[in-house]
Amino acid sequence: MNIERQVEIFNKQAGKYYKRAKQKNMDFRLRSKLLQSATGNILELSVGAGMNFQFYPTLSRITAVDFSPKMLDQARIVAAEQGRQVDFRLGNVEEIALPEKNYDTVISSLSLCSYPHPDKVLTQMASWCKEDGKILLYEHGISTNSFVAWLQHKTNSFYMKRVGCHMNRDILKLVEESPLSIVKSEHYMLHTVHLIWAKPVT
Ligand SMILES: C[S@@+](CC[C@H](N)C(=O)[O-])C[C@H]1O[C@@H](n2cnc3c(N)ncnc32)[C@H](O)[C@@H]1O
Repeated sequence: MNIERQVEIFNKQAGKYYKRAKQKNMDFRLRSKLLQSATGNILELSVGAGMNFQFYPTLSRITAVDFSPKMLDQARIVAAEQGRQVDFRLGNVEEIALPEKNYDTVISSLSLCSYPHPDKVLTQMASWCKEDGKILLYEHGISTNSFVAWLQHKTNSFYMKRVGCHMNRDILKLVEESPLSIVKSEHYMLHTVHLIWAKPVT
């Protein structure tokens, strides 16, 4: 799928993401658990409607990237509601130029599923993060349960066309093969959902 089509798909979902940002469900609890580790100068990739801003320390410096103008519109509303100063960047995470070794915390939630080259993005994350910084990932992917995995493979192309994301990526393998070192990880919902606390390999 080309990038223009993917942007269209995410633009259409922006309102739905804004509503989700208000819900206190399992997704909220997982984000809260992971993102309480966020500190300092924060880089959030594929920010969507800004669902994570509420978990950052009040005075954080936040840079937020997304290629969907409509998602960024929603995220700007959320930032204003919370009194957050955010440097928003419209761009493709796979191509954007950001300063190296600059961020104390680099964050990605539910976005490694969407990139054509997630390995490239993980490499970039490691390069943008300070050597003593943190990389926090909340991602979904292929289950360790064979029936669920089969269903995920079967429905993958449908989900890609409808919501712009892959259901069957092996997130742990991708991270293990990247220049990130996993400090801690937790897994939920038959291993389809992962919280990962990592750092760049130095
Ligand atoms: C499933 S949503 C998750 C949004 C947000 N991170 C969250 O946790 O709610 C995926 C987001 O990634 C963005 N995205 C996908 N591929 C991208 C790319 N190559 N560059 C920039 N943003 C991208 C989409 O526009 C969308 O906002």
